[in-house]
Amino acid sequence: MSRSATLDRLRSRVPVIAPSMLKCDFGNLHRELELLDAAGSEVLHWDVMDGHFVPNLSYGAMVIERTRGMTRAIFDAHLMISDPAKYLNDYLKAGCDCITFHIEAVPEPRALLKRIRESDVVAGLAINPGTPVERIQPYLADCDMVLVMSVEPGFGGQKFIPGALEKLRQVRKLAAPDLVLSVDGGVGHSTVADCAQAGADLFVVGSAIFDQPDFNVAMQDLTRLGTRPVRS
Ligand code: DX5
Ligand code: ZN
Repeated sequence: MSRSATLDRLRSRVPVIAPSMLKCDFGNLHRELELLDAAGSEVLHWDVMDGHFVPNLSYGAMVIERTRGMTRAIFDAHLMISDPAKYLNDYLKAGCDCITFHIEAVPEPRALLKRIRESDVVAGLAINPGTPVERIQPYLADCDMVLVMSVEPGFGGQKFIPGALEKLRQVRKLAAPDLVLSVDGGVGHSTVADCAQAGADLFVVGSAIFDQPDFNVAMQDLTRLGTRPVRS
């Protein structure tokens, strides 16, 4: 799918609930994708971890590539890795529609953001809880998506860091109105509405989906809770 088609799909589906593929059943991945598709998930968030940029190791481009043909969902790769530029082609080849990397891994992100956009893929920039929004302000025009981490990256099932709400508000104020604003970590039934109010469009959710018995119910509840009331 082209970068513009992906952006159109993301922008027309707000609130987008994106299951985080970290707490899924990797022993039955095809089945999990079928269940997520049936539950209406439009986006799958692939949490790539290298055990160096973050203290955990998950999976690489190969797993994403193997599943590409199993679903029409948008593949949103979250690269929690050092030196993402070195591996970019692997994620492009794997069929990722969005590729987000961390400014903490690439202090001067402009060139890599440009490379991703020129590959006709949505370019995302992620910031950790300890990184101020000012750090990415010079690059907001160079990215299509900003991912505000509401936990320290590396693990699912952590507690939401409330400071992320002010950062969402700041980015929403500073960025172009069509920037896709994403929040990731500890997003669930008790936090999704606040994130939506703070301006988030895309909600990465792990435990609040995969720890639930029924993905359908989880997706519907989170979508309802993440829908901003229409301003009268
Ligand atoms: C953490 C990942 C998140 C995490 C979300 O490094 O980027 O996507 O898996 O999982 P929950 O929703 O359980 O915090
Ligand atoms: Zn993530």
